[in-house]
Order: sequence, then C-alpha cells, then structure tokens
Amino acid sequence: MLKITFVCLGNICRSPMAELIFKDIVKKQGIENMFNITSAATSSYEIGEPIYYMASKTLTKHNITGSHTARKLNKQDLLSDFILVMDNNNYKNVLKLEGIDKNKVFKLCDFTSNPREVADPWYTHNFEKAYEDIVDGCTAFLHYLKTNNYF
Ligand code: 4NP
Repeated sequence: MLKITFVCLGNICRSPMAELIFKDIVKKQGIENMFNITSAATSSYEIGEPIYYMASKTLTKHNITGSHTARKLNKQDLLSDFILVMDNNNYKNVLKLEGIDKNKVFKLCDFTSNPREVADPWYTHNFEKAYEDIVDGCTAFLHYLKTNNYF
C-alpha cells in the first residue's frame, strides 16, 4: 500500500481538496485499496477546523464528497511514500523538518507537463483555479505511479 500525504499551509483549502480529489480518482478506477491517502498542514493555524466553506462548495460542485479535520504534519506522516506539497513555501517548510527524506517530497504540479505551484485561493478566492490545478496534478501523479510500476 502506498501512503500519500498532501500538504499545504493551513490544511483547510488546497491539501484537503487534493486528498478528496485523489481519493475520488482512485475510487473511480477501483484501485482505492492500494492507497492510504491523507493531508496535513505545515502550520498550526487551523488545527481542528473543517474544510473551508469555499473549498467545500467547489468540491460539491464537482461531485466530490468527503470531509477532513485540519491537523498538523506529524512524524508518522514523514514515513509516507510520497509527500505532495502545493507550493514553494510548503516545500521549503517540509524540507526543514527533522528526519525528512527529501526524495519523498514533490510539488504536486511538478508531475504535470506544466510544472508549477497550485494556485493559492486564500487571498484570490479563486477556488476553481486551485481545483483545476489539483485535478491536473493528481491525474499526472497517478500516471507517474503507473508508468513507474508503483502498483
Ligand atoms: P491552505 O489555505 O494552506 O490551502 O489550507 C490557507 C489557510 C489558512 C491560511 C492561509 C492559507 N492562513 O493564513 O491562515
């Protein structure tokens, strides 16, 4: 089983969206049993909070269901096979953690043909753009796993 941990700053917008979107993609392909999928924050700002309502609305609009309670990245998460971050700041913060294996850490959209950060919707409120980036990243990541014989 592959453990995948999606990471962002607060764990109320981008990374829980990625968690639920990736769960949806693998479920639709009947391969959900091959994964342990979760998400976590680099900060403590939003611990205990549900998914931000605008992120939640965007997921619902695209028929993605599920919930998540924000939590901070812990030592167990660092044992994941892949730690997929949303932006350059997340990347920098994760690499500072004690015991981190740099080889496991990737920016989600670096698996796409257009490597980039996931657009941060916190100040723009453009959750649709974040959704599109995340779907693109998750699709490309799954393709990477398949072509590299991870399962
Ligand atoms: P996220 O969004 O990292 O995608 O969950 C944010 C959530 C909270 C804050 C910033 C971004 N904040 O500054 O509290």
